[in-house]
Amino acid sequence: MTSSDVADHDLIGVGFGPANLALAIAVHEHNHTAGQETVRAAFAERQPRFGWHRGMLLDGATMQVSFLKDLATMRNPTSAFGFLPYLHERGRLVDFINHKTMFPTRLEFHDYLEWAAAQVRHDVHYGTAVRALRPLVGRDGTIAAVEVVATDGRILGRTRNVVLGVGLQPHLPEGVHVSERVWHSNDLLSRLGTLSRTRHDRFLVVGAGQSAAEVVEYLHRTHPHAEICAVHSRYGYSPADDSPFANRIFDPGAVDHFYDAPDSVKQTLLAYHGNTNYAVVDIDLIDELYRRVYAERVSGRGRLRIMNMSRVVEVQRLPDGVRARVDGPGAGEPEFLHCDALIFATGYRPADLTPILGDLAGLCVTDDQGRLQLTRDYRVRTDPALRCGIYLQGGTEHSHGLSSSLLSNSAIRAGEILRSLLTGRNRREGKPADPRLAVR
Ligand code: FDA
Repeated sequence: MTSSDVADHDLIGVGFGPANLALAIAVHEHNHTAGQETVRAAFAERQPRFGWHRGMLLDGATMQVSFLKDLATMRNPTSAFGFLPYLHERGRLVDFINHKTMFPTRLEFHDYLEWAAAQVRHDVHYGTAVRALRPLVGRDGTIAAVEVVATDGRILGRTRNVVLGVGLQPHLPEGVHVSERVWHSNDLLSRLGTLSRTRHDRFLVVGAGQSAAEVVEYLHRTHPHAEICAVHSRYGYSPADDSPFANRIFDPGAVDHFYDAPDSVKQTLLAYHGNTNYAVVDIDLIDELYRRVYAERVSGRGRLRIMNMSRVVEVQRLPDGVRARVDGPGAGEPEFLHCDALIFATGYRPADLTPILGDLAGLCVTDDQGRLQLTRDYRVRTDPALRCGIYLQGGTEHSHGLSSSLLSNSAIRAGEILRSLLTGRNRREGKPADPRLAVR
């Protein structure tokens, strides 16, 4: 018996955010029409139930992507898992149409994601964090399958393909540590809910991107007596470019262009179009914050303070708050601000996959910067001895471009990964190529 004979899954997905949820839907739709050729899939999610950045589900915050780029529509416009069928089932389709928006609130989109996740829940182990992939070495010395091991030691299954969709990790500046009153924006709502006392009536928000601006807006609105200090090193918030030509960088076709481009062109494209996503803010939100600052100047009661060209350089814990040292432009005197909480909205970084890959890491091909090398179908290039497929959803910006960690392309990417997996299975079983697999 070889290792591939003992596999009880075609695919196990690690993480069940929107990316692997889109894949679960693609598998579900495939299985619906596949007869005997079904894909045996399971997913592991460390959260106890489905949740998409719950700590930032601020009321009023809207999506940064068209609702048509939902979990399925771009791959299958007739899917029952699209945003429109969701609206129809919730009895809001007509009201949504009258609303004339492409950008629903994040709260509504979260409800949509939960609705979709509930329909494929039998394939998901919630409350299950994956610790490692354990290779199953066959008689011929190759690894055609792996065991997926949870942190509690349970083996979730033996699979021929793994899809890592673990998302990004919150990033804090060097030397900053999370504490009772120092948070990353990712945890905003849960932390605010447990904040014991607000004595100083002041919050400091570090960052100049969308999350930072949203946190500033939210705290200013919900803490009417507090001063909100927005600290960042830029001169002002810069608007996100979501104009139609720039938006094409998120098109499915742009992934081909990016993937095929030489490294120097990839770097140039990332630099040119970083302002579609990084350190930028929706223009409506910028206008709203400016309107509030100006209104406060008129009233003479300013409590929304934009501290531009500034940096938090020191944070000191106090019994009832934190003291932050903020250095402004030039060599002027630093300011010491006592606050109830300091929120770092300083972005996210790709997760380090080495611990999960475990012994497999050494068999994965990396570039001179240590980044995993991938084929166009999001499969990690590996030593020939590793025949089990390892696919990445996210963390592929260096190879597949800016849409890698976003929702824009998740439906199409899920279809591409499923197609790759099915093509591999057909090849292994000596079956002819299936023309249906050409459908994205
Ligand atoms: P995501 O991070 O959503 O999910 C990964 C999952 O893996 C998590 O549920 C995590 O718990 C789980 N996990 C991690 N390690 C695990 C392990 N070892 N075992 C088991 N489970 C594990 N993009 C966009 O296109 N439009 C938008 O409007 C927004 N808006 C937005 C708002 C905010 C506040 C943030 C922070 C981000 C966005 N984004 C976005 C970008 C965001 O990355 C994107 O929407 C998706 O969350 C990406 O989905 P993923 O499934 O790749 O990661």
